[in-house]
Amino acid sequence: MAARSLLLFPALALASITIEDPSNVINPAFWAADNAIVPDYDIAMVSSQPSDILATHKVNGKTSSANHVTWSATANDTSVLVVANDASFTGTYMNFEKSGYSTNLNDASFWGFNAAINVANASTAVFDKINVTVHNGAAQVYSYGTDTIVHVNNAWLYSSGPVSHGLYASGNGTIIGRNIEVYSGGKRSSSFSGDSPGGYIYVYDSVAHAAGIGSATFYALGEIHAKNVVSLSENGPVVFSDGVQTADLIDCDCTAGLLGGVAMFSSSTLQSGAVLNLTNTKFTTLGSEMPGLWFGNIIADAYLTNSQLVTKSGILVVANYSQITQDFDYYAGYADNNALSPAGVTVSVTESDMTGDLVAYNGSSIDWSLAKYSSWTGTAYSGYGDVSFGVSLDATSKWTMTANTVVQNFTDSLTSLKNIHSQGHTLYYNATVNTWLKGKTVSLPGGGSAKPISSASGKSQIRGRSRRTQN
Ligand SMILES: *[C@@H]1O[C@H](CO)[C@@H](O)[C@H](O)[C@H]1NC(C)=O
Ligand SMILES: *[C@@H]1O[C@H](CO)[C@@H](O)[C@H](O)[C@H]1NC(C)=O
Ligand SMILES: *[C@@H]1O[C@H](CO)[C@@H](O)[C@H](O)[C@H]1NC(C)=O
Ligand SMILES: *[C@@H]1O[C@H](CO)[C@@H](O)[C@H](O)[C@H]1NC(C)=O
Ligand SMILES: *[C@@H]1O[C@H](CO)[C@@H](O)[C@H](O)[C@H]1NC(C)=O
Ligand SMILES: *[C@@H]1O[C@H](CO)[C@@H](O)[C@H](O)[C@H]1NC(C)=O
Ligand SMILES: *[C@@H]1O[C@H](CO)[C@@H](O)[C@H](O)[C@H]1NC(C)=O
Ligand SMILES: *[C@@H]1O[C@H](CO)[C@@H](O)[C@H](O)[C@H]1NC(C)=O
Ligand SMILES: *[C@@H]1O[C@H](CO)[C@@H](O)[C@H](O)[C@H]1NC(C)=O
Repeated sequence: MAARSLLLFPALALASITIEDPSNVINPAFWAADNAIVPDYDIAMVSSQPSDILATHKVNGKTSSANHVTWSATANDTSVLVVANDASFTGTYMNFEKSGYSTNLNDASFWGFNAAINVANASTAVFDKINVTVHNGAAQVYSYGTDTIVHVNNAWLYSSGPVSHGLYASGNGTIIGRNIEVYSGGKRSSSFSGDSPGGYIYVYDSVAHAAGIGSATFYALGEIHAKNVVSLSENGPVVFSDGVQTADLIDCDCTAGLLGGVAMFSSSTLQSGAVLNLTNTKFTTLGSEMPGLWFGNIIADAYLTNSQLVTKSGILVVANYSQITQDFDYYAGYADNNALSPAGVTVSVTESDMTGDLVAYNGSSIDWSLAKYSSWTGTAYSGYGDVSFGVSLDATSKWTMTANTVVQNFTDSLTSLKNIHSQGHTLYYNATVNTWLKGKTVSLPGGGSAKPISSASGKSQIRGRSRRTQN
């Protein structure tokens, strides 16, 4: 196969570039037992910050620094370095070696127990040229609390074991990472992650590779701002986002192996206001059923500017009556959360070419607008039940239809509809909503036409897999 593609595509072969990450140095196969550990969150919730956090090195309420040293910790629930309580630390040319388990994952998630480095309670730290290697499941760099700001520059981060996020901010903490190489092999170990009530992550010029289920490149709980990140999430999306969070990515090239390019949802009741903003960014999804963007039980806005969604499935966007559970490996339904609602997503596409379909399920809606020289080749259809699609085009954008399509709300700045290449298909619009079309049938380039939905047949056109039956 490789030899054949070399013969057929010599230019591509020459142009391909291999990007290394820490898993090229420490083989994850040696740490398979760690990576097989299933995180156990079936434990008591911790309601307040525990008074002591164990560490082999502590900087408490003062300013300190270190360089050219290796610090380590091997005990359970014990950090290598804790910087806390209005403290400040500068570390350069440092190695951190951490092993030992988290025996309480709530303590680990909410307070940074067992993290290799934990900066907490209005403290600041600057790390430059550091190597953090952890096993048995430990976060690498954790930031906790309002006014805690951690800078991580030129870092090499390797982990095995569960809940080993690379950069991990919670309790309003902030981390700013530059030139990071991060690998995590365990479950629920995202490369860059926030946690309740919010963490603020800024990451630039970095390479991220996460292998385990539940591990995304970015887990948005709070805000994610990324620029120039190349990543692979083998068993997760590029972005997980639970609730009203923001993920803002510029110049990123990210590949996802499970659920979707993004999986944006609410794990409680329906929430409104989640934002995804992709600029000059490419998402590739590997699974044969994975969409570029997946939304469930959330009202969200997505902005795609000069961006690409490359999907094996041919599905650009899914909006579903669904959510993602803590198992992080399937689209859940009513049985898992009987307070679910349909998703409502607005996707604004500018300066981008999109190929693929929009699929909504069970009351969900997708509003899809194309502006500023954008194009779309595809159709919109129901995966299950009654759904609703809005399609909007400006005069510089075009739609190439690949099947008959039913649109509830249709707007086109080019009232001649000459920017719709029908390929013989019919665009059914709702005449009650789209009064500007005056209920007329309008010929489209390519032999098809735009027609009002004929009352009774309308619902059946949009329900179920109407796309198939109409072809
Ligand atoms: C942070 O402050 C809280 C409240 O004062 C305290 O209980 C906790 O021990 C502090 N954290 C650390 C890591 O010192
Ligand atoms: C450390 O945690 C592991 C996993 O929970 C446990 O098997 C081991 O006994 C603990 N070690 C100590 C010294 O408590
Ligand atoms: C970081 O430390 C690990 C463990 O000691 C080592 O295997 C790895 O080569 C180091 N990485 C770099 C970039 O030096
Ligand atoms: C996080 O911010 C909220 C809102 O400002 C505040 O109520 C809360 O105490 C903060 N939490 C921490 C751990 O600083
Ligand atoms: C999206 O990102 C672009 C580029 O950084 C920025 O100009 C724009 O304001 C962002 N939009 C939103 C809604 O965040
Ligand atoms: C849609 O949600 C249902 C549960 O409501 C689930 O069974 C199905 O797998 C989901 N499909 C997609 C593509 O999200
Ligand atoms: C569809 O939505 C209804 C609520 O409107 C819910 O009862 C049902 O379980 C959902 N079915 C699927 C397959 O999502
Ligand atoms: C229809 O779509 C246009 C363009 O996106 C939007 O401005 C308008 O609010 C939508 N109307 C309805 C009734 O949803
Ligand atoms: C057309 O839109 C109106 C107003 O939203 C709605 O009541 C009606 O069911 C729609 N018709 C069809 C056939 O979907």
